Amino acid sequence: MEIVEKGNEKIFNENYFIVSKTDLKGRITYANDLFIKMCEFSEDELIGKPHNIVRHEDMPRAVFKLLWDTIQAGDEIFAYVKNRTKTGKFYWVHAYVTPEFDSKSKKITGYHSVRRAPSKEGLKIIIPLYQKMLEAEKSGGMEASTKILLDALSKLKVTYEELLLSHE
Ligand SMILES: Cc1cc2nc3c(=O)[nH]c(=O)nc-3n(C[C@H](O)[C@H](O)[C@H](O)COP(=O)(O)O)c2cc1C
Repeated sequence: MEIVEKGNEKIFNENYFIVSKTDLKGRITYANDLFIKMCEFSEDELIGKPHNIVRHEDMPRAVFKLLWDTIQAGDEIFAYVKNRTKTGKFYWVHAYVTPEFDSKSKKITGYHSVRRAPSKEGLKIIIPLYQKMLEAEKSGGMEASTKILLDALSKLKVTYEELLLSHE
């Protein structure tokens, strides 16, 4: 089975990948079949739309700021993301987001994201961390939230990489 549902949560098989591509502004230019099945929007509903079409309200804004700052600088990033489906369900992914470059000019031409199922160990750390960040955003804004994220990432460096590998 590619996808199972547990209550409101959708979980996809760890051997599969959810893939999408965007233009420079984050508008979707490509969605693979698993993405379409998971998010429940049709290909027509996705293509040309901003990627925040699947944004979940539990996601701190600071995560997306770090994501955009990183990829616009030409770097790649791993991120845990909770997404909302068309019917209000949710699914967690472990995304690897990278810029695509024009081979001649070396300028960024778009972005793509390849996502696998997140590890349970990773989510045990990420869920409370994101809750703390959301709280911080309410009172101290993005700055307070970003600080919590960067502090956690630097403290977790080894653990975080172990988490990435623990799924192999
Ligand atoms: C290649 C790529 C893939 C993305 N995938 C997602 C995604 O799966 N879920 C999501 O909420 N945001 C994703 N984003 C980030 C969105 O563009 C957006 O920044 C985010 O949803 C926050 O929405 P907002 O900018 O309206 O606050 C992706 C961005 C890029 C460039």
